Amino acid sequence: MHLTSPHTLSLTFQPKYSLAMRALHWLVFLGAVVAVAAVEFRDVFPKGSTERAAMMAIHESAGITILVLMLLRLLVRVSQPLPPPPAGDPRWMDRAASAMHFVLYVLMLAMPVLGMLAVAWKGRTIPVYGFQLALPLAINEPYSKLAKEIHETGATFVYIFVGLHAAAALWHQFVLKDRLLRRMI
Ligand code: HEM
Ligand code: HEM
Repeated sequence: MHLTSPHTLSLTFQPKYSLAMRALHWLVFLGAVVAVAAVEFRDVFPKGSTERAAMMAIHESAGITILVLMLLRLLVRVSQPLPPPPAGDPRWMDRAASAMHFVLYVLMLAMPVLGMLAVAWKGRTIPVYGFQLALPLAINEPYSKLAKEIHETGATFVYIFVGLHAAAALWHQFVLKDRLLRRMI
């Protein structure tokens, strides 16, 4: 008789996320790489320079793109069934993964909103792909400062949680060798 453990099963077959979920996952990742690279690279240029402003325009355009993609992703996620959790994983691992995914949704939705609020309360328009987006908010310096501070603290959490999430995915792939990445590729 041929015995197949759940782990062996997971080696041979991994149900995938839908094409829409996979595409949105990697587009958001690409957007985050661009947003973070642009804002970190801005310090190369002196304050008040056009290049520095261009870096912020790239940051803000990428950030708003992330917001739109995340809203779309949320819609797709609730409108179709998710693949079952990876076969053979203990329950705590599924729970930890779900909790992490929830935190990532909250972060990637909250970050662009906070960024937009920080800019709008400062009285600035938001550059989005060459257009100027004006939010109907009155200037409020203290609110702008607060939103900016939360946005910057949030950025640290983005680094930590995305780092842990990517490390977990790579650990599954290369240490547990359960082809988890295939679910998202
Ligand atoms: C998921 C999307 C976003 C991520 C991951 C993100 C991340 C970051 C990071 C890492 C920083 C630098 C923090 C620091 O230097 O301490 C930053 C700063 C900033 N971000 Fe974002 N951001 C996002 C979206 C946005 C959006 C949509 C806007 C505005 C429309 C925005 C406006 C700003 C501003 C004004 C700063 C401060 C820049 C400065 O101090 O010169 N961000 N963001
Ligand atoms: C901005 C960075 C990232 C964010 C915000 C993010 C977010 C998420 C979320 C929320 C999920 C759950 C599925 C969903 O509801 O959409 C997920 C799944 C997944 N992510 Fe990411 N991710 C990021 C980067 C990465 C990277 C860099 C890797 C690989 C090294 C990765 C690998 C995976 C895999 C394999 C899954 C499927 C996990 C499963 O089957 O349960 N992600 N990601």
